[in-house]
Amino acid sequence: MKKTVESYFKTIADFPTEGILFRDVTSVLGDADGFKLAIDEMLGAIDGEAIDVIIGIEARGFMFAPVLAYTLGKPFVPVRKAGKLPRETVSATYALEYGEASIEMHADAISPGDRVLIVDDLIATGGTAKAAANMVEELGGKVASFLFLAELTYLDGREVLGDYKVHSIVEF
Ligand code: PRP
Ligand code: HPA
Repeated sequence: MKKTVESYFKTIADFPTEGILFRDVTSVLGDADGFKLAIDEMLGAIDGEAIDVIIGIEARGFMFAPVLAYTLGKPFVPVRKAGKLPRETVSATYALEYGEASIEMHADAISPGDRVLIVDDLIATGGTAKAAANMVEELGGKVASFLFLAELTYLDGREVLGDYKVHSIVEF
């Protein structure tokens, strides 16, 4: 029987803190068939969508977005944790369990009117993805859709993303 993308995820109890069931994406990438299936299903989810630019969010979004961008012949733009990008940036702040964090992207990475696909390995609370969308829109871009390999549905991150189109391949 054909394996599912979900079956390549390993689940680790009590990581990084007690009570968390951590869904480990490295076990998908660490299997050549799993990685190929994941990429194929991500490509299938956005088939036919009009996209100009593909954004990936540090660090685990970098495992998928550049592969999609290369395959589709589109530019890849990194969203990084604050302080890492060398040229002029825009930034957005989002809430963490304790405190907050900021992410940044180069201000010239998006042109007004660009249709942008935002890619990450996983959506949990949705805070990171929403912050990325805020930066895209600040630069005049339009969020075409979000694409996640995995979604932790019990955290309702999708609600935070409101009316945006959201694709996820595996739901936990
Ligand atoms: C994880 C994950 C997403 C984000 C999702 O990244 O890769 O980017 O959290 O969480 P949210 O939906 O609640 O915002 P993390 O910040 O752990 O960084 P990493 O990719 O560098 O490990
Ligand atoms: N797996 C990977 N990343 C995460 C998780 C998880 O279960 N929860 C929050 N970020």
